Amino acid sequence: MQNVTVVDHPLIQHKLTLMRDRETSIAGFRRLLREIAHLLCYEVTRDLELEMIPIETPMQPMQSPTLKGKKLVFASILRAGNGLLEGMLDLVPAARVAHIGLYRDHDTLQPIEYYFKAPSNLEDRLIIVVDPMLATANSAIAAVEKLKERGADKLRFLCLLAAPEGVEKFSRAHPDVPIFTAAIDEHLNEKGYIIPGLGDAGDRMYGTK
Ligand code: PRP
Ligand code: URA
Repeated sequence: MQNVTVVDHPLIQHKLTLMRDRETSIAGFRRLLREIAHLLCYEVTRDLELEMIPIETPMQPMQSPTLKGKKLVFASILRAGNGLLEGMLDLVPAARVAHIGLYRDHDTLQPIEYYFKAPSNLEDRLIIVVDPMLATANSAIAAVEKLKERGADKLRFLCLLAAPEGVEKFSRAHPDVPIFTAAIDEHLNEKGYIIPGLGDAGDRMYGTK
């Protein structure tokens, strides 16, 4: 599929299996999501530009590489996006953060917005939108639209699990936004859940129902 990178590192696949298992505890689920976020973050930032700066080691002066350009923005789609966000911030602690509050109406599967707060200057920054689940893609499409309305012009979408239907719909709506995911599952069921999936990511992270 175009514009999609499946990050199939063995450690990610192993941890994802543990996350899918219904017997995995809430604490275990959260820890695994954070660990996988580290590995996904490594991949989604692989091509960041570097510039050389002068530093002095205890031995001698040298030119050494550092990240170039404006600080990254991580945009978390609440609630479940925060599980990925925490792991991403472990690796890029200086990143700016946007929070986008959306939940899916259970009947219509349309996203309902309840919160939005983002850094004011989104232009020219790489914005990585994070949410573990890309199901119908309605939430991800709405989140990216909102960010684009605020000036975002360089975006990537990072998730843990995607449905083929969601990948297709998202790519049609935002062909300029590449998707990074740990797996593409079989299909969506009639209630918009990813099959075989891992269930409701927010509920499994926070112990709600
Ligand atoms: C889940 C998930 C995504 C959305 C994906 O959130 O975290 O945001 O569903 O589904 P979609 O691709 O069909 O839009 P949910 O709406 O359950 O909210 P929550 O994170 O607060 O539990
Ligand atoms: N949201 C989830 O948390 N899980 C799914 O399978 C689909 C949407």
